[in-house]
Amino acid sequence: MTDISLIGQPISRLDGPLKVEGQASFAAEFPIDGMSYAALAFSTIAKGRIATLDVGEAEAAPGVVLVMTHQNAPPMGPMPMMLGPGEPDWRAGGGDNLAVMQDDQVHWNGQPIAVVLAETQEQANYASTLIRASYEAQPAVTTLDEAKANGTAESSVFGHVHKVAVGDAEAALAAAAVSIDVTYRTPFQTHNAIEPHATTVVWDGDELVVHDANQVITHTAYSLAKIFGIEERSVHVTSPFVGGAFGGKALWQHQVLAAAAAKLAGRPVRMNLSREAVNRTIGGRTLTEQRVAIGAGADGRFDALIHTGTTVTTQRGQLAEGFIGPSERSYAAGAFDLECRLAFQDIAPNSQLRAPGNAPGTYALECAVDELAVALGMDPIELRILNQPERNPTDGRPFSSHHAVEAWRAGAERFGWAKRNATPGAVRDGEWLVGMGCAASHLGYVRVPGGAARMTLTREGRARVEIAAHEFGAGTATALSQVVAERLGLAFEQVSFVYGDSTLPGLVMGGGSQQTASISASVIAAQHALTTELLQIAGDASPLAGLTADEVEGRDGGLASLDAPERHESYAAILARAGRDEIVVEAAAPPPQEMMDWSIQSMGAMFCELRVNAVTGEVRVDRVLGSMDCGRILNARTASSQFRGGVIMGLGAALMEETQFDERNGRVLNVSLAEQHVPVHMDVPEIDVIWTDIPDPQTPMGVHGLGEITITGATPAVANAIFNATGKRVRDLPITLDKLM
Ligand code: MOS
Repeated sequence: MTDISLIGQPISRLDGPLKVEGQASFAAEFPIDGMSYAALAFSTIAKGRIATLDVGEAEAAPGVVLVMTHQNAPPMGPMPMMLGPGEPDWRAGGGDNLAVMQDDQVHWNGQPIAVVLAETQEQANYASTLIRASYEAQPAVTTLDEAKANGTAESSVFGHVHKVAVGDAEAALAAAAVSIDVTYRTPFQTHNAIEPHATTVVWDGDELVVHDANQVITHTAYSLAKIFGIEERSVHVTSPFVGGAFGGKALWQHQVLAAAAAKLAGRPVRMNLSREAVNRTIGGRTLTEQRVAIGAGADGRFDALIHTGTTVTTQRGQLAEGFIGPSERSYAAGAFDLECRLAFQDIAPNSQLRAPGNAPGTYALECAVDELAVALGMDPIELRILNQPERNPTDGRPFSSHHAVEAWRAGAERFGWAKRNATPGAVRDGEWLVGMGCAASHLGYVRVPGGAARMTLTREGRARVEIAAHEFGAGTATALSQVVAERLGLAFEQVSFVYGDSTLPGLVMGGGSQQTASISASVIAAQHALTTELLQIAGDASPLAGLTADEVEGRDGGLASLDAPERHESYAAILARAGRDEIVVEAAAPPPQEMMDWSIQSMGAMFCELRVNAVTGEVRVDRVLGSMDCGRILNARTASSQFRGGVIMGLGAALMEETQFDERNGRVLNVSLAEQHVPVHMDVPEIDVIWTDIPDPQTPMGVHGLGEITITGATPAVANAIFNATGKRVRDLPITLDKLM
């Protein structure tokens, strides 16, 4: 490695200037000759069948190219599922295995029943309002109570069942000196990224080209091939820029419908979902009802941790909010009883929304720990530090890297926790009640199999890395360019990182906060292959003669012996002597064995100070600090943006966000940003973030995922601060002012 490390440097995002200058082409901005524009019509019942569907008026409207319904849609296979029961398939996208628009059946209120193609978007939007449907409705399950009464099922993700039992937790709870036993509720949330879901689709014979807003491009190509019965190599998905992903930018019905309509019309199609369409057709976070009970000795040590409850999903997709994860690994306890069960409602297929499971689960767990601290009369930070586990408390695996105590101590010091008044409602500033709260953030490490990279090194000493990865604004391409340059011993400017195209190597999910680890492992593997080839062609005349790939490193524009750095030769010299202009290698990342051998956890200590208006119940968050332990930080600037963004979503979850259903018919009521409340600038205070920056010895480049973690702890930190300010414990999110008056 070079002496001045690029790793950690706060380099500005490579895609920033393009976005600021308007040069970045998003999915709805690819110009194609002969384009037609699509709009959707939606079912107005939650379950049943379409009895009549009158499209005549829409077809006759100005500019309409065609109307597609189940009566004329081309035959299409079912959507493969990414995380479904039975056959979990890593290569599929989306959260639903329904065949799209193949019959008259209605599965949720808001399901697309017709696609209108027109010469302009406005013409399509207007004509879509002229579709007339009548239905034969069947009874639908639209409330949690009905869903629970119908019976719940075991929940699992990737074969990991959401159920853990260690010892007799109920008995330990009953015998505990101090205990709390409470129920928390979290609501449905819909994805409302700045960029609504959009796709531009064109068929070239049997070849399907899809310019998409997408965080799982290769999965999407695979799934579209299955649905249309064509070869995977005949589907080409690009997604160079994405305006916010958060788990929602996967394969949903709209890409399938756009491709089907394009086939039917023989024309390119742009489907740019309206906010209503996003809120009706894209899955989000489903509601949870969670019991958390903790029993402790008088000293505060946990004797029992019980975290059980229900989350909602559909009968078809099971991307459930598996909320027990944080309780499986974050605190030591004498006994555990953890279980997340599924209840089924007739709703849009649910999906992943930043820190799925972990966010609602951490909210409940960390509020419960705060409640226990109050019951014990202990400082909540000291209570958490006291109960830190030596190893994973429920499966016994050693932690790979675990610095929660350092994070708590550093955060408490910087935030000024010592100044907090522990008595609820004791600090008043005029009509404002002031409070401080804290909570831990939790997120487990993931690295999905399938990473691979192609690496090209030129005689000019430039390197290009190509991976079917994603840049949805997180800074991935920038941080990973730093990794490539650092490892090869090149300048940052000599490296380019090519991504966002399904024809590139690798199967890299842009989710689970795992891209950085997956790409790092792929880059390391490709570099090893490159080094091996370089040493081969270097030959006996090279100062590196006789060395193996494991005995050298990239340094100063070439390779150097690890033991004797003066044995160095530049890439240019090696290639020139061999008469080569460039070397191209491709390599696959090794399987993620680290996930089997170690319990790999990120955490953060979150602190919040806020004020609650004693008259109106209005909450104003004054400051937030996150003290993170997330392995090595590759880029201080992009990492802190990720941390801050997660905090902002956590504030939204605490105080505002909720997708509201009409429980009589399962219809989403708030389908626009006028009614879907998320934090705006005025709602977001100064957010301070610090980190331990301790590399994990077991992970590629020492990294952990960090994109999703701060949302998890920010929400309970706010809830706990509200309790400290007011003495009111609101246990259902969002904590709107009516609940505080
Ligand atoms: Mo994240 S919900 O895994 O994009």
